[in-house]
Amino acid sequence: MKRKGSYNQRYAGDEYYWGKKPSITSIKVIELVHPTPTFRPKLIDLGCGEGRNAVYFAQRGFDVVALDLSLPGIEKTKRYAKETGVNVTTIHANILEYELKETYDVIFSTGTLHFLPPETRGQHFQNYKDHTSSNGINAISVFVKKPFIPRAPDLDRDAYHFTSGELLSYYWDWEVLYCVEEIFECASGGVSHKHAVNRIIARRYRTE
Ligand SMILES: C[S@@+](CC[C@H](N)C(=O)[O-])C[C@H]1O[C@@H](n2cnc3c(N)ncnc32)[C@H](O)[C@@H]1O
Repeated sequence: MKRKGSYNQRYAGDEYYWGKKPSITSIKVIELVHPTPTFRPKLIDLGCGEGRNAVYFAQRGFDVVALDLSLPGIEKTKRYAKETGVNVTTIHANILEYELKETYDVIFSTGTLHFLPPETRGQHFQNYKDHTSSNGINAISVFVKKPFIPRAPDLDRDAYHFTSGELLSYYWDWEVLYCVEEIFECASGGVSHKHAVNRIIARRYRTE
């Protein structure tokens, strides 16, 4: 049985709570963005957890910054990066307070932005969009509220699921390269349950 409780508790053991396999959205990003010897795309992973996606990107030639509120998650990310021989810059921070100051080619996040309270999301997404390079992308997956799907057993109290179409609305003025809403089975916390997820990859229109 995997551990429940706070992310710090979940990440405390040697085992990787979310595994080491990259997320579906990460794999989609790799299909769209191609690092070269002269182009090392700068990527930030907001809510990196134990680093499964951050390390995957670093292994494929991205210059990766990984941010999470959980210190054990950050430590596991560093450890996983070291074990695989890649460099990942880590930031221990709270996305509710963190404003991007640098520009990134890819702003990436899976299963984390539902921690942003709905009334503050507009300003956070504007900050992410403003700090995306010309022709850069935002690749985001969020949990979506569905009346017929019970709350996940290990879902945090401070989580606010998105409504259907909400994520897309933040990218109305960008080119949408990929947008899917689907329901998947999950066994996190040791109990089988379902999630509805919306994955989106949107590109900032080239300005120069
Ligand atoms: C469902 S996990 C997803 C982890 C990772 N993205 C993955 O796909 O494996 C959500 C992550 O969000 C982080 N998190 C929760 N609230 C946060 C906050 N306010 N600021 C930064 N990270 C936060 C948690 O520590 C956790 O690692």
